[in-house]
Amino acid sequence: MIPLKRRKVVPSAAGNTGSEETLPNKFPQVVLFLLERKMGASRRDFLSQLAGKKGFQVEELFSEQVTHVISENNSGDEVTSWLESEAAGRGRVSAHLLDVSWFTESMRAGHPVQILERHQLQQIKEVEVSPFSAPSYACQRRTGLENHNTALTDALSLLAESAELRGEDGRGVAFRRAAAVLKALPEPVTDAAQLAGLPCLGGHSLRVIKDVLENGASAEVRATERSERFKALKVLTGIFGVGVKTAERWIREGIHSLQQLQESGRELNRAQRAGLQHYEDLNQPVTRPQADTVAAIVEEAVASVLPGAQVTMIGGFRRGKPTGHDVDFLITHAEEGREVGLMPKVVSRLESQGFLLYQKTTRNSYLEAEDGPARPSSNMDRFERCFSVFKLPDEAGAGGPNPWRAVRVDLVVSPIGQFAFALLGWTGSKLFERELRRWAGHEKSMSLSSHALFDNAQSRYLKASSEEEIFAHLGLEYIPPSERNA
Ligand code: UTP
Ligand code: MN
Repeated sequence: MIPLKRRKVVPSAAGNTGSEETLPNKFPQVVLFLLERKMGASRRDFLSQLAGKKGFQVEELFSEQVTHVISENNSGDEVTSWLESEAAGRGRVSAHLLDVSWFTESMRAGHPVQILERHQLQQIKEVEVSPFSAPSYACQRRTGLENHNTALTDALSLLAESAELRGEDGRGVAFRRAAAVLKALPEPVTDAAQLAGLPCLGGHSLRVIKDVLENGASAEVRATERSERFKALKVLTGIFGVGVKTAERWIREGIHSLQQLQESGRELNRAQRAGLQHYEDLNQPVTRPQADTVAAIVEEAVASVLPGAQVTMIGGFRRGKPTGHDVDFLITHAEEGREVGLMPKVVSRLESQGFLLYQKTTRNSYLEAEDGPARPSSNMDRFERCFSVFKLPDEAGAGGPNPWRAVRVDLVVSPIGQFAFALLGWTGSKLFERELRRWAGHEKSMSLSSHALFDNAQSRYLKASSEEEIFAHLGLEYIPPSERNA
């Protein structure tokens, strides 16, 4: 028995378990890695799942966490040279190199059996490991706009979008989390071995990443892009006012394109009619100068109906994005209560000025007493809100033949007491928000929404008048908007 170097084993909830659905690690001193070479991918998958069910931790990638390397029909030299080439670069690791017989005996026993002479190939002397590290929640990381791994994140984002369009939200989030980890890396990934030890990279995401790194593209992504169903869902949900359910119904009825939709004579609601009418414009990115023009119009309208009210541009533009799919604004007033009734006045002013092609206002329906802790998982906002389509004059005249374009604009009104929560909740990115709520719930036993933060342990609301205070309540380092682009 060769002495095993002591190592820290990260609890599986926070670390890379390599698979989303394994049991908690029953044997923290044992971290398995199964060598695919000569074993084959399907047998490796099968054995990995078996080990997971028995409570063993199995790593998808070789990393310094691995304590036991399992191989089949390989010599010790073969395994050593494979691992050295796979993990070329940095760091030092030692682990047992074992024949699959140790694995099968352990599975049969339901625990790691003692390592005997006949199980052993040989021990690795030094193998280099991952240069990258990242905490597992996106809200613990800084993610700027610069992305060094766009080929990988584009592939994963497309698969996330496809999963969401199929209604498979869990799978969609898994791909989004994987993409977010890669977005936060300071350098391009050149070899999958560099990813060992990073969180949120499940087996499926890793296969896609390896495919892109080795072949320049992912076969699964290509097939998805070519799929008629994906194309039709994208076109139809690209219509403002059309969700996945509606698009699916139309596809079942044989409608796959805008032309087929128009020719079908389907009843469309008001939002959908506006969406179809301005389809081209609304699928054209909004530029920062255009967003600034919208801001000036909104600020003028707000100031004229409630002097002293404050308008803040939120969403992607607040994070410093150069373009967006819409422009989002949060409106408040320093004196609580003065904001009541503001939205209809702003809307009717904008309407009378001819700036609105479409608008729908929903009333504020949030009541702390009813909606707070009793509904911790609800992330639906209940602010007074206006979904609109602006007719935006092309001031610079740079846009071509049209004197104006249609732009999606969201207006949200918040009382000052909830302003910090609304600001944090509406600045995004969507994944960053989701991760903040997951962190609050899982790590802090708190419920975070765009209205409030509730501490379950203390059974009380935690007040905040700035985003910094909310991060502090959550025990997180403050991340500025420009670094929330997860
Ligand atoms: P957007 O969908 O506008 O995204 O939501 P974005 O980040 O500005 O990116 P673009 O517009 O595609 O460029 C902005 C933020 O508002 C929150 C989301 O969580 C997101 O972070 N939001 C949006 C809500 O809280 N509720 C909603 O109903 C919609
Ligand atoms: Mn937006």
